[in-house]
Amino acid sequence: METIIVKKSGALNGHLKVNGSKNSILPILAASLLTREKCTLHEIPDLEDVHVMCDLLSNLGAKINKTNNNSLEIQVENIINYEAPYDLISKLRASFLVMGPLLSRINKAKVSMPGGCAIGTRPIDLHLKGFKNLNVDINFNRGYIQAQTEDIIGNNVYLDFPSVGATENLMMVACTAKGKTIIENCAEEPEIIDLANFINSMGGKIEGAGTKTITIVGVDELHGTEYTVIPDRIEAGTYMVAAVLTGGELYIDNVIPAHVQPVIAKLREVGAEVVESRNSVMVRSKGMINSTDIKTLPYPGFPTDMQAQFMLLLSLANGTSVINETIFENRFMHANELLRMGANIKIEGNTAIVNGLNSLTGTKVKATDLRAGAALILAGLVADGETEISEIHHIKRGYADIVEKLQAVGANIAYSM
Ligand code: UD1
Repeated sequence: METIIVKKSGALNGHLKVNGSKNSILPILAASLLTREKCTLHEIPDLEDVHVMCDLLSNLGAKINKTNNNSLEIQVENIINYEAPYDLISKLRASFLVMGPLLSRINKAKVSMPGGCAIGTRPIDLHLKGFKNLNVDINFNRGYIQAQTEDIIGNNVYLDFPSVGATENLMMVACTAKGKTIIENCAEEPEIIDLANFINSMGGKIEGAGTKTITIVGVDELHGTEYTVIPDRIEAGTYMVAAVLTGGELYIDNVIPAHVQPVIAKLREVGAEVVESRNSVMVRSKGMINSTDIKTLPYPGFPTDMQAQFMLLLSLANGTSVINETIFENRFMHANELLRMGANIKIEGNTAIVNGLNSLTGTKVKATDLRAGAALILAGLVADGETEISEIHHIKRGYADIVEKLQAVGANIAYSM
């Protein structure tokens, strides 16, 4: 079984380039089902999650042609299958995002219920409630959701919680509906704006993405387009933490500073220097890590996807920090692994109390999910001795070339069989 071995490394210094956003490209790939014509996409990260989404789309009838390392052409002239099976949905929850585009294109979809995952039960009730509001019939049959409609009809939808996935699925189903749809209390993440921009570049009429209310006027048909996805703000945030943690200085390129403001604010609170430029940030350690409190919230609040990396950082801070996880019910699995490295963390419900220490110790640990895995790699950079991380398939889901990128800025890290 392949593992990653990390040895205690000095300060990380130099330049790193961030890839295109995983959480943008997944819905954008799903949205390419909305047209018969060809879509050309740029800045595609080479990630397991992207491969799984491409497999699913190929199953549904997509012809995908990789034009170079970071670009691909995708064309779904005919939908040949409208089912997303359990084995793909269980590998990639975001594959549920094909439901909206399938309904838009052929008025029916059959998608497996996602089931549980490492970070909680993650229901899909908000997606389904929204579909029903738009005149879609939903039936459950042997673990599958069968959805069909005569016509998708625009309507008002209020989301009880600003779910990213539900906002995306509803935007996609509504873009060819009869009439106008207004989604209220929707998610405001940058990836929502990216998906809206993509659909609008295909001839869609979506307004308000990035605010609490999105208005979509249905159009008859969408056409092909060429589109570049935004940079990955969570990959950027992960390397920003690495700079502070190791006492280094990293210049992180291909970042939209506005998208990482909650992370920048917290890094400044812990004592780091952060300089923002147009498409990059420089993060320099000032030698100390102060404690701070964190509460994860929907965007523009602090991202749950950065919580594990900050739990690690605060494990080495001066003093006690409190982390409150409000987005997912079971997202502290990494705490157990950090405890095995000597961290002092107490979990009470959705709160973690982190008592900062001077050092951690390397040992064998397991990546329990994607961001937990990234936090363990960073932990290995500063822990005494050697850290061996298993279950690294989780890390490959979301970080392209993380080992190579960290090596290039001075980390002692390698794959091992
Ligand atoms: C997306 C991101 C993920 C990120 C998360 C929150 C992608 C591919 N993934 O996931 O990296 O951690 O946003 O920022 O973009 N919920 C319901 N009912 C629903 C839908 C969601 O109760 O129908 C709950 C979930 O269980 C969870 C919370 O809402 O507790 C947030 O989920 P959501 O915003 O939908 O996250 P995802 O789109 O799955």
